[in-house]
Amino acid sequence: MNIILLGAPGSGKGTMAQKLTVELQIPQISTGDIFRKNLKEETPLGLKIKDILNGGGLVPDEITIEIVKNRLAEADCANGYILDGFPRSIVQAEALDAFQNIDCAINLEVDNQTIVSRLSGRRFCPNCNGTFHVTQLQNAAICPVCGNALIVRKDDSEETVLERLRVYETTTKPLIDYYRKQGKLVSVDGIGGVEVVYRRILDILHK
Ligand code: AP5
Ligand code: MG
Repeated sequence: MNIILLGAPGSGKGTMAQKLTVELQIPQISTGDIFRKNLKEETPLGLKIKDILNGGGLVPDEITIEIVKNRLAEADCANGYILDGFPRSIVQAEALDAFQNIDCAINLEVDNQTIVSRLSGRRFCPNCNGTFHVTQLQNAAICPVCGNALIVRKDDSEETVLERLRVYETTTKPLIDYYRKQGKLVSVDGIGGVEVVYRRILDILHK
């Protein structure tokens, strides 16, 4: 099954994708994780996109499309995948349609107030890409999965979160209509605990 997770920054795409990838045994393809890895390793791509990521803007479509196209051609995607954070513009969605068949786009609906509170408490593991919230952690400094030090993502500062939300409204939100017109949109209430929201998604996928 080829699944897209849509939703504003902080709506829970990464959290749900990490659970789905275990349950469905198909890979999670997170463009944000791919870009952060390049940033951390200071690759030529990482150096090029550093200011964009830290400022909350979008990496140019042609760069992002090329990366996703190559990644989806890898063998582990043959039985399906979960796209987390791609597409993020109509240009990206049209490019994706030209080389892949998408089964459904799941849109996580979360209000802005909840988003700000989720992102201000988020902790991220740069080693295993685990995503947590301070309220779930006994020790907010250590990853409960791999023991690495947890960090606060640079783009989770208040100023950058507001910019990411602005970019979402103008450039990414139109994808909801794009997939609705294709009959592929499924909207899910993203408010509630992680397990509650996850159960809603599984119920939809099982139908
Ligand atoms: P990306 O990493 O994709 O960031 P994002 O879309 O802004 O989304 P987030 O990762 O912030 O949120 P999320 O929806 O994954 O929520 P999460 O599960 O972490 O992209 C980063 C940057 O890379 C972009 O700004 C851009 O520059 C670039 N980029 C990436 N893709 C691109 C593309 N296609 N084109 C161009 N540029 C691109 O959850 C958030 C918090 O809430 C966590 O603390 C979590 O524990 C908590 N939480 C989650 N679900 C629940 C729940 N149900 N109840 C309570 N808490 C919850
Ligand atoms: Mg994410």
